[in-house]
Amino acid sequence: MKCEICDLKFLIKSYGCQMNKLDTALVSAALKDAGFGITDNVKEADVVLINTCSVRQHAEQRVLSHLGHLKHIKKSRPGLVVGVIGCMAQRLGDKLLEHEAVNIVCGPAQIPQITKLITETLREKKETISVTKKIRQRSSESQTQALEDFESTYGIEDRQVSQDTLPTGVPGQAFVRAMRGCNNFCTYCIVPFVRGPETSRAPAAIIEQIKRLAGQGVKLVTLLGQRVNSYKYTAGEKSYCLADLLEMASEIDGIEWLRFVTSYPCEEFFNDILQAMADLPKACNYLHLPAQSGSDKILRAMNRRYTAGEYLELLAEARAVVPDIAIAGDFMVGFPGETEDDFQRTIELVKKAKYKNCFIFKYSPRPGTTADKRLEDNVPAEVKKRRNIELLDVQNKISAELNREFLNKEVKVLVEGPSKKPHLNRGNDENSPQLVGRTATDYIVVFNGPVSLAGEFVEAKITQTSALTLFGKLTTNT
Ligand code: 5AD
Ligand code: SF4
Repeated sequence: MKCEICDLKFLIKSYGCQMNKLDTALVSAALKDAGFGITDNVKEADVVLINTCSVRQHAEQRVLSHLGHLKHIKKSRPGLVVGVIGCMAQRLGDKLLEHEAVNIVCGPAQIPQITKLITETLREKKETISVTKKIRQRSSESQTQALEDFESTYGIEDRQVSQDTLPTGVPGQAFVRAMRGCNNFCTYCIVPFVRGPETSRAPAAIIEQIKRLAGQGVKLVTLLGQRVNSYKYTAGEKSYCLADLLEMASEIDGIEWLRFVTSYPCEEFFNDILQAMADLPKACNYLHLPAQSGSDKILRAMNRRYTAGEYLELLAEARAVVPDIAIAGDFMVGFPGETEDDFQRTIELVKKAKYKNCFIFKYSPRPGTTADKRLEDNVPAEVKKRRNIELLDVQNKISAELNREFLNKEVKVLVEGPSKKPHLNRGNDENSPQLVGRTATDYIVVFNGPVSLAGEFVEAKITQTSALTLFGKLTTNT
């Protein structure tokens, strides 16, 4: 009997955060295991999956325009199956099925069913949907187990798939989920409503997965969680926190660097985690600690449970325990009620924090969140834009200054691959391509070298710097 999905190909496109990239990789591995081929050419694809993000309206708009394009393609190829997975699938549910292009809707907790949904749709020529009905209810044991099995079966490096579908898109690196969901309910945030309650994975499963990844040549593992620093798992008498995970993962041969994102600013476990970073050579001295605002009034309205002063104390503590720590931040401008004075406080905080880099976003109301229900989106778009540019400018000056300190220094770099946007006149050897990699503390380094170095550690001497990038010369013999 001919296999019904043999010779069929899927294309998968991922929007949004690292969690989504990881889910994309898991889904790709599962579909290949089921017999599908993978392609990055839509003309060849029988199934197109879009892994979606709901964190800002802009992210959803990009997906909708992608769907518009697919609708157009389906006019000449009605048999093309289109599936929407991820956060937007959970948020919009069957409303998405009303879109002419969409055949399948599958929430983040239902990805273990993806092969089944696709084969049903192909076989029965009907729409299929699977999302969580009561997203804030703790999921059933069988559902948690299904997710765990899916994760440990497919959460391994796969060098065969295209860059977009690798867990990190980069050889030698992998994401490993430490926890799912979030219980914090920052008032602007959609995550608790699409990813459900916080659940930490069992340390044994995480460590087993990292061992398998190490066996396949992975050197850098990034542990993922919406508030990864609140990782907590109790097994019998013993309770594990993120510091314990770092310590256990450090013992795995082959793993050389360990990172974790994203952290929430709070005291719980903070010192233990910093101490682990200071004590464990493999734990990279890198902390992503979003502050969101420098105004206590806005922080309260966001339901962030700290003041700007307390946040700065955490940074001081981090720098006292791990002197060369690199800290990255997230900020939001134009939250409802943000005055010029509130914004100035954010600028002050950014100046004091001396971040390595910052991600800055314009507030975007998300349906169903407390901020959207109770607060008017009253900062005009042009003011949000101006504040965004101004804050970025402040941060760029700081980043440029921090980067200059690297001049003439030698750094260890994990090579990612060829640089996507070639930097002009910076190279030292025009005969080999420009490569990009990162230091343990996540600084971006660009230098010339052979592509075969992707996934390897090299040493580079920094010869030039800008606000975003260190430019160097390879000093490792290749
Ligand atoms: N609008 C704008 N930015 C947001 N973020 C989360 N929710 C929103 C929103 N509604 C930002 C936060 C968070 C990052 C992942 O996205 O800064 O840290
Ligand atoms: Fe969203 Fe806040 Fe949870 Fe982060 S900590 S995912 S911003 S609710």
